[in-house]
Amino acid sequence: MTKKVTVPDIRARKGGPKITMVTAYDYPSAVIADRAGLDIILVGDSVANVVHGMDTTLEIGLDEMIVHARAVKRSEPSALFVVDMPWLTFHISPEDAVRNAGRIVREGGAEAVKLEGGRKRIPAIERILDAEIPVMGHLGLTPQSVNAMGGFKVQGKVVEAAREMIEDARALAEIGCFSIVLEGVPDVLGELITKEVDVPTIGIGAGPNTDGQVLVYHDVLGIGLGPHAKFVRAYASIGEESIEALKRFAADIQSGAFPGDEESYHVPDEVAAELLRGESSG
Ligand code: KIV
Repeated sequence: MTKKVTVPDIRARKGGPKITMVTAYDYPSAVIADRAGLDIILVGDSVANVVHGMDTTLEIGLDEMIVHARAVKRSEPSALFVVDMPWLTFHISPEDAVRNAGRIVREGGAEAVKLEGGRKRIPAIERILDAEIPVMGHLGLTPQSVNAMGGFKVQGKVVEAAREMIEDARALAEIGCFSIVLEGVPDVLGELITKEVDVPTIGIGAGPNTDGQVLVYHDVLGIGLGPHAKFVRAYASIGEESIEALKRFAADIQSGAFPGDEESYHVPDEVAAELLRGESSG
């Protein structure tokens, strides 16, 4: 049996073997990610776009996140199980933040929460940590800030913004975040922040020199058919393969090739014969 990955295990991976992380939003994807031996499974709020077809992550709420978390939890992953705190669940007050993080742990089964933002989120993060809930930080192109950023744009491209982000990362590490996701930042900044903080950084569009990498499950497997971000590498073409498979399925139904004998239930010949006799004489 694979050893359970814990928060201290991830914390100890700073500068060590790279951390592997992928999103999963349901039971089968969590089983697959865990069988593949990924270190961390994240129920990301990207479920809003990827699964629900929403335009932004601002549209997904806590109750929906918990439904997805519960499905993933049922896979009993060996991977560390992290769940995103959706928008407006940690902005109102530290009390509200810890209550919502508590729901993600108690109802969703999460072993840690992830939340977006730097120094201004520290009061909320401190309250959550005080309740013994481990927190993963998230800096850079934070999708919950899409309107404030004026779109999904690479962050930290000018010196002042990059320095601010380094300060944010230092602060998150100092208050006790066990790792920090860096999304959509220049490779040089990803490397610099990784050197500056003593907790592991996990990049998504942050270049190769972070302590780990994360991608969205559907992107890794090529399930989505639309355009994808520059930082995505698809290791399969499941979307296209699925279309071809479903076309063959439909064609086999039309031709009568499906279902075949081996896909049908049978009764002994004499029962079948009597049934058919009864039908034709009746
Ligand atoms: O929601 C998500 O998929 C994420 C990843 C970008 C890490 O937060």
